[in-house]
Amino acid sequence: MSGDGVVEVPGRRGLLDEVEAAEADLRAAAEARPVADQSDLTAYFAAVIAADQKVEPRDWMPEAYRKGLIRQIAQHAHSEIIGMQPEGNWITRAPSLKRKAILLAKVQDEAGHGLYLYAAAETLGVSRDELVDLLLQGRQKYSSIFNYPTLTWADVGAIGWLVDGAAIVNQVPLCRCSYGPYARAMIRICKEESFHQRQGYEILYTLANGTPAQRAMAQDAVNRWWYPSLAMFGPPDRESTHSEQSMAWKIKRFSNDELRQRFVDMCVPQAEVLGLSLPDPALRWNEQRGSYDFTPPDFDELFRVIAGDGPCNRQRMAHRRRAHAEGAWVREAAAAYAAKHRSSDAG
Ligand SMILES: [Fe+2]
Ligand SMILES: [Fe+2]
Repeated sequence: MSGDGVVEVPGRRGLLDEVEAAEADLRAAAEARPVADQSDLTAYFAAVIAADQKVEPRDWMPEAYRKGLIRQIAQHAHSEIIGMQPEGNWITRAPSLKRKAILLAKVQDEAGHGLYLYAAAETLGVSRDELVDLLLQGRQKYSSIFNYPTLTWADVGAIGWLVDGAAIVNQVPLCRCSYGPYARAMIRICKEESFHQRQGYEILYTLANGTPAQRAMAQDAVNRWWYPSLAMFGPPDRESTHSEQSMAWKIKRFSNDELRQRFVDMCVPQAEVLGLSLPDPALRWNEQRGSYDFTPPDFDELFRVIAGDGPCNRQRMAHRRRAHAEGAWVREAAAAYAAKHRSSDAG
């Protein structure tokens, strides 16, 4: 417990420190930007990356860098928006007014993350409308984790702890991504994700220290969310398609397997504080590696869910399409209002 009586997540501060260090370096990089020779664009781009400077929207960039970033940022933005659904499912059923207010704020944060990320993608010359269309047509993906159902209140805790926790481990290195607008969005998002993780952890802590039935509910949620959370880091390195180029361009900094290991190593002491077990009989400390050995997730299941065959894929997309259609009048009204203001400003 911390001074305010709220349980602290072991290891949380270290990740936040990394985000703050990335933010300081990003500021320094902006100030130190060299006025280098820009007559050879390819060489200039390579020099910016090599010097850990940021590539900005005004800069020339290879087409594959631009396209790859659009794909990655869009997939990330879609995940934030679709990710509102599993938890939104519990807003009306949260067990107290306080829990309801916190969950509402958290789900709203996710909408905000989607907006920062769509805005970051737009700096690469694609419009948010286009990206939303690609999602609705099923031509762009979102994280497979959001195709799993939230069966009990404890799932909201498990999502905060494990799903937001895995998201942070994935995203903290992206605060150092070579593309400036994405790196800046990630810094802000990571700070908020850290709060999300803490709220989920606190829900589980409360349940784990409650009645035997509450404790069992918490354990059951952890059992169901553990492997899907491990799968969030993507396929094993030997099967990962985009990684190498992404590393060379300093978009991605660590491999899927490295990040997955880091997540496992963080979760074990956190689970101990909760007094809950992780559903892996093979989980044990490996003295030589200085890490925990663990059972990898079922990657066949991951590929099935990515291909559209998870428990909730159809439901999530149907809901998104309905919400988009029902929101059409709001978009039209906002556009009409903006146009009216533009013409009155001009007059
Ligand atoms: Fe988020
Ligand atoms: Fe979150």
